[in-house]
Amino acid sequence: QRHLISAADLTRDDAVLILDTAEEMARVADRPIKKLPTLRGRTVVNLFFEDSTRTRISFEAAEKRLSADVINFTAKGSSVSKGESLKDTAQTLEAMGVDAVVIRHGASGAPYTLANSGWIDAAVINAGDGTHQHPTQALLDAFTMRRRLVGRDTGIGQDLSGKRITLVGDVLHSRVARSNVDLLHTLGAEVTLVAPPTLLPVGVGTWPCEVSYDLDSVLPKSDAVMMLRVQRERMNAAFFPTEREYSRRYGLDGDRMARLPEHAIVMHPGPMVRGMEITADVADSDRCTAIEQVANGVSIRMAVLYLLLGGNEPAVTPTRTEEK
Ligand code: CP
Repeated sequence: QRHLISAADLTRDDAVLILDTAEEMARVADRPIKKLPTLRGRTVVNLFFEDSTRTRISFEAAEKRLSADVINFTAKGSSVSKGESLKDTAQTLEAMGVDAVVIRHGASGAPYTLANSGWIDAAVINAGDGTHQHPTQALLDAFTMRRRLVGRDTGIGQDLSGKRITLVGDVLHSRVARSNVDLLHTLGAEVTLVAPPTLLPVGVGTWPCEVSYDLDSVLPKSDAVMMLRVQRERMNAAFFPTEREYSRRYGLDGDRMARLPEHAIVMHPGPMVRGMEITADVADSDRCTAIEQVANGVSIRMAVLYLLLGGNEPAVTPTRTEEK
């Protein structure tokens, strides 16, 4: 594939190859010099029309670890405020010699349009579009689940067959939920969504997952529970129960966490709203993988960039110590 637009475009073998390549990339982070020459001479632009902390910075870290030249563009402070279109912005950046565009945009479908319109030749990677998709987030989540639930070494070549994953909260506005449902289904996991009826999308019945309104009954059957942020910025008040009621019914606190099986993990894509969907004691507990997910995001993004741009060179050349 030339682009990464949607988790739904990945086959099981594509996804396992990315997860396995990310394991190789993670070894680089353990070295004294955390850099590979793989993308030397290639230029990647990070084109962010929406705010981001984790995705923007981890793409930049991944690009730099692969020795790419990096251009950072944020819509704030650019000529977008003067009315410049996505097409003109992208063509302006490509004129400066860009091999790949990492794009986050508030409009669902913007990365697809950029990849398929013929406006530019560069590879396009979706870093989150509206309420649609966030494929590298789903990949880093699957990577985290495979490491924790299957094993770092034993997981190589494996998918997530039979693992029971529960996603909780604002599914309606969540590109993370959509991407995870698509990818986890492809990887053989059994997914359950738990949300208030007002925060589920029309047509969720056709998604490859179960739906429940009762978090307490689902938790004991979960290998991982992923808490989703309530995206107040994308909704009007009518969608939302009161914060107190939401936390009471759908929030994860210490008592609820105790209902999980002992081996189960608590996940959050970030940013977290502590006290709303997750309490501080749960967020800070050993079972919560939120920070681990961020670290894994760098390895996943290195793997995606390498597989899209790296050509036939080996991903990682072993150091002399690793060869022994
Ligand atoms: N998980 C995620 O996409 O976070 P950011 O919005 O900070 O990139």
